[in-house]
Amino acid sequence: MIGRPCLYYLCASAGPRSEGTLVCIVCGRSGPFIDFPAVPDDRQQHEGIEYAAPSECHASHSPTSPARRSRPIPYPFYARLRAEAPVYRIRLALWLSAWLVTRHDDVVFVLKEGPFSNEFSKQKMAWLPRRFQPLTRHLLNADPPDHIRLRTLVSKAFTPRAVERLRGRMQDICDELLDAAQSEGRLDLVQDYALPLPLTVIAEMLGIPPQDRRRFHAWTKAVVAGGSGSVTRFVLGMPALLQSTHYLRGLIGRRRSEPGEDIVTALLQAEEAGDKLNEDEVVGMIALLILAGYETTMGLVSSGTLALLQHPEQRRRFATEPELTDSAIEELLRYTSPLELAAFRLAREPVTIAGITIPKGDVVLGVLGSANRDESRFPNPNTLDLARDPNRHLAFGAGAHFCLGAPLARLEGRIAITTLFRRFPDLRLAETAKEVPWRRGLFFRGPARLRVLL
Ligand code: HEM
Repeated sequence: MIGRPCLYYLCASAGPRSEGTLVCIVCGRSGPFIDFPAVPDDRQQHEGIEYAAPSECHASHSPTSPARRSRPIPYPFYARLRAEAPVYRIRLALWLSAWLVTRHDDVVFVLKEGPFSNEFSKQKMAWLPRRFQPLTRHLLNADPPDHIRLRTLVSKAFTPRAVERLRGRMQDICDELLDAAQSEGRLDLVQDYALPLPLTVIAEMLGIPPQDRRRFHAWTKAVVAGGSGSVTRFVLGMPALLQSTHYLRGLIGRRRSEPGEDIVTALLQAEEAGDKLNEDEVVGMIALLILAGYETTMGLVSSGTLALLQHPEQRRRFATEPELTDSAIEELLRYTSPLELAAFRLAREPVTIAGITIPKGDVVLGVLGSANRDESRFPNPNTLDLARDPNRHLAFGAGAHFCLGAPLARLEGRIAITTLFRRFPDLRLAETAKEVPWRRGLFFRGPARLRVLL
């Protein structure tokens, strides 16, 4: 049986299609693949490398197959791209194609130095109906001067000092979640721990009432899936987009009449250089903070725990050498790369990277998960080494859009993982690592479920 098209999974070919292997990033298998009729494109051939047309994987991606449900390790595929095609053109759904940039220094160039714009949604998604647009027009998708104005307005809430004040509350949340699980003797680490911790923290920072938080999670899941490049999932995500916008406008209305001690109130009251945000910008900002604020941290806590469970010697060091905790969290960030790809960048002008010229206006994706495993920067990149030094990973990006929430994420990850292993020194997997299902979609990487015994 031929599987359904998996358009948002990257299927790639290096070498003439007749002879070359096609490697699927989802299942890691190579061919045979069934090609869609090629979309006419004069850039399909470049310097002897033929770039894959949208491909349909073989039976491995029938809707019910395990490979379709889970998303195993993409690192061998990235290693091959770094070696053979470090700037590599792929097709995504929604009629988009993009260039994957996979080497560490090239990703730094894309994020920090090169002539790129973050205004993807403004330039490429102008067709989106007006009512949906505020959710995509946020600071991650903005260039200066808007980017600087928006970032300045929220940055105060995320400084290391401001975040340090939340330490006690974070510890209480971790302990409450683990107390609840203790009597059961087991938990799904994703749903019962890695998700509720950062979701509660960011929801409290924003003043979102407890009863609304899980609802929000359902919406963001649909929104994230919709942004993963599949047309079907994009359309299916539309109601969630509408509901979340409607909810956020309601929340803003309530904070206008009843100000609180939260970021939404601060945004509404903010007057930076005499420049207030308009309501659409507040909606976009809250949506970004919610999405960025927990989807990624959830990945760090769950993938980081899994990595330690799979490396007993490193786990022993984590438990017995507290002086290693800072570098351990950095190494878990590098090793797991919870945000696998940076946001879409657009080339402002033709730009040459690794000998390949990307035309003006094309979309570029810096692959953080690949940069963090680049052998030219990290000796033995596939080894988890909690004492790794130096460790200039790109898990939080680089340059002007460097993660605003990095201090918050580091502290949450640190408290969550140390508390877990301190309270449950016999913590172990309740299933084999192979049975752990991984999240689908392009950007966020982490287990979809992680069953552990306490
Ligand atoms: C382990 C957890 C996290 C990881 C791995 C992560 C990763 C990243 C990365 C790679 C970027 C830059 C993307 C790019 O340049 O395209 C980014 C931006 C951002 N992150 Fe995080 N993040 C994490 C947690 C958080 C948290 C807790 C917040 C807090 C709300 C947050 C808020 C943001 C914001 C607002 C931006 C946009 C900054 C800008 O455009 O100037 N992140 N994050």
